[in-house]
Amino acid sequence: MVSEASHSVTRAGAQVLVASNRGPVTYSLGDDGTLDAKRGGGGLVSGLSAIGDDADALWVCSALGEGDREAVRRGVGEPGVRMLDIDAAVHADAYNGVANSVLWFVHHMLYQTPLEPAFGPEFRAQWASYEAYNRAFAEALAESAGPGAAVLVQDYHLALVPGMLRELRADLRIGHFSHTPWAPVDYFRMLPDDIAERLLRGMLGADRLGFLTGRWADAFTACCVAVLGGTSGTRIGVHGLGADADFLRERSRRADVEERLAALREQIGGDGTRKVVVRVDRTELSKNIVRGLHAYRLLLDERPEWRERVVHVAFAYPSRQDLAVYRDYTAEVSRVASAINSAYGTDSWMPVILHVKDDFARSLAAYRLADVALVNPIRDGMNLVAKEVPVVSDEGCALVLSREAGAFEELGDDALVVNPYDVSGTAQALHTALTMPSAERAERTKRLAASATSLPPSQWFLDQLQALTAP
Ligand code: F6P
Repeated sequence: MVSEASHSVTRAGAQVLVASNRGPVTYSLGDDGTLDAKRGGGGLVSGLSAIGDDADALWVCSALGEGDREAVRRGVGEPGVRMLDIDAAVHADAYNGVANSVLWFVHHMLYQTPLEPAFGPEFRAQWASYEAYNRAFAEALAESAGPGAAVLVQDYHLALVPGMLRELRADLRIGHFSHTPWAPVDYFRMLPDDIAERLLRGMLGADRLGFLTGRWADAFTACCVAVLGGTSGTRIGVHGLGADADFLRERSRRADVEERLAALREQIGGDGTRKVVVRVDRTELSKNIVRGLHAYRLLLDERPEWRERVVHVAFAYPSRQDLAVYRDYTAEVSRVASAINSAYGTDSWMPVILHVKDDFARSLAAYRLADVALVNPIRDGMNLVAKEVPVVSDEGCALVLSREAGAFEELGDDALVVNPYDVSGTAQALHTALTMPSAERAERTKRLAASATSLPPSQWFLDQLQALTAP
């Protein structure tokens, strides 16, 4: 199933291996047949660079699009990255069918339960692909790992890998880290019993499991107790990923961000007198963008004094557009934003500025000028936006934060905390945030930034590696 000519760059006998569905690089295929490589960022990239180039590390990931597959076929790759060319239909069933449409929904509690989920033959076929896709990773890791190597498997896509890899290579130290929340027992048990059991047993094949917060670790343990009777001795740890302060502070002061700042100020209008509520998300069902817009509309409706005096800058970048439910949600975000602009906008004031094209420099510009950041997910493993805004903010920013975000555990004291389903409560929190005295806002921002950066990505990664390899 995995094309053997596919190994971009393989290092036999790596001592530290990372496995994730999405890798650190993606390739796009130009009309003239050239391949363009785009490198990503994030915690794992900083973590791996922190262990140094000599560390004999290998990142095993999946080819995701046609560009990636073509790169694998041509033998093009990055040093230290092995991209697996898993059959496209198998990958689609595993990634879209099981990982994103079932496991993501379970952990984020996204089902509209009167009608879904309904696990029948289609799900069973997709589950067979999920197993095959996990097996492809386990086999590649078993082949590439040196004796006694440490393997750090990432996320719900690869929940079965620890158990499968353990069977192939008993000598390895195997860790698994969940970047999502973990479902409460009753919600998790919506999965068919045999599937629930296989997922938990797959993860318990690891020596050590990591979660972003104590809440998610406890939920996992509760599921193991309810379904299996216990955690079979696998160690469980909590590692709350923080923002990368050095990178953010430097990157957010570059010329391209200054340009975006000027353009945004122009769009906001009002000669710098308007307050700005910012949100930056992938257009993800769990991010609760639509209720956020409804709350903003309620603010304008119930407190007319804010009209012309506030602008909501909402960046909602494309995500998982292969799934109809994500496409529909994306359309709903645009529809609600337009409805607010039609109902309240004037010749000189656009109440909502919605951008849907991903632009990192523009996101940083919005972080810098935000008076209020709205981070109101239904449920979220951590939410790094909540941590990044206070670090980058020019003059202090009030944070309206959902109590269901992992970041709440660390930032709750200095944020204005909301129940994400309570639209009226969110509108009230926006008002409180907008009227917060600037000295208080600056003080809170300072404390938020300190908490947000207390565990930088490199340390987050090294701590896990050390805990895994400790005798
Ligand atoms: O939060 C879990 C996660 O896998 C993150 O690691 C990542 O930011 C996000 O989901 C992206 O998902 P996808 O790879 O489907 O775009």
